[in-house]
Amino acid sequence: MLGLRSAFWQELQEDLKQVEGELEKALADIPHCLFREAALYLHQSGGKRVRPALAVISARCCAYPVERVLPLAVALELFHMATLVHDDIIDASILRRGRATVWVKWGKRFSLCLGNYLFSYAMSFLSHYEDKRINRILVYTSARIAQGELEQLARAFDITVTQQDYFRYILFKTALLLASSCQLGALVAGASEEVSRLFYRYGRDLGLAFQITDDVLDMVADGRQLGKPIGTDVRQGVITLPAIYALNHSSERDRLAFLLSKRDKGEEEIKETLDLIRKSGGIEYALAVAEGYLEKACRAAQALPPTPAKELLLEMAYRVKQRQK
Ligand code: IPE
Ligand code: IPE
Ligand code: MG
Ligand code: MG
Repeated sequence: MLGLRSAFWQELQEDLKQVEGELEKALADIPHCLFREAALYLHQSGGKRVRPALAVISARCCAYPVERVLPLAVALELFHMATLVHDDIIDASILRRGRATVWVKWGKRFSLCLGNYLFSYAMSFLSHYEDKRINRILVYTSARIAQGELEQLARAFDITVTQQDYFRYILFKTALLLASSCQLGALVAGASEEVSRLFYRYGRDLGLAFQITDDVLDMVADGRQLGKPIGTDVRQGVITLPAIYALNHSSERDRLAFLLSKRDKGEEEIKETLDLIRKSGGIEYALAVAEGYLEKACRAAQALPPTPAKELLLEMAYRVKQRQK
């Protein structure tokens, strides 16, 4: 894959500054002061703004003025924030974007309410669009995210999780929102149904690679750099792709199976589990699978009508790959 830096990258940064301005306005407009404070706290902690970027890029590929895609970009990031607030409760995660998670700071009951509020607030930004498909796609995605999170949770510490199960969970909980971001960006820009399907496929495959990468980073990254704790999946019993591979290929399969299925592991046991997964080649395997999805995503992008902004789609794929390093 090429390490390109599109001439449009700078222009995209200008668009994203506008998105950022709109997001800040949206957050400052939250009427309830505690909701506002907590949402601003999460927003200002950082984050890559991947979903708004995908929507803007997709709309740009269809030659759409950025102003028209701004409400969608705001909706997507608010929506993503809602999933993060809820996900950190589900995963008992104490760190997000380098800072204490919302539930650690404000409590779980408050965070449930904040997540619900952000979901609804996000949807309200879609009233800017008359096209009924816009709302329908995001409602469908929202339901799938909840389903993906729940299905994965229901299989915690279950070492019989298969690759097929895993791909279903990550499709639902992560990839569909990236797919929707691209598809919706194209649709608000007036793309045909057929072209919008290509954007969807690009976003879906990018999203699968994105979550696989995230799952690998949970096992190998530097926690401070990542801004969230390492080993959370192993601790919480979430069986991800490197672990599934290791369960089938490790020379110490029985020990690994015992550890992965054990609740309340001590820190030494978590370290041992991660070591066994790394030794099995599970990390390399998962990265190769992610690379395959990135290539698939790029093929979908290549099939799009020729526009200069298309390079940005390839650039995004390249950046997901760079995250693995
Ligand atoms: C985190 O998403 C949740 C996953 C789907 C892996 P991001 O990695 O996009 O989180 P931020 O917004 O950059 O913090
Ligand atoms: C995130 O999944 C998916 C959603 C937020 C819906 P993870 O639980 O793997 O993501 P991180 O590691 O907490 O960011
Ligand atoms: Mg999770
Ligand atoms: Mg999580």
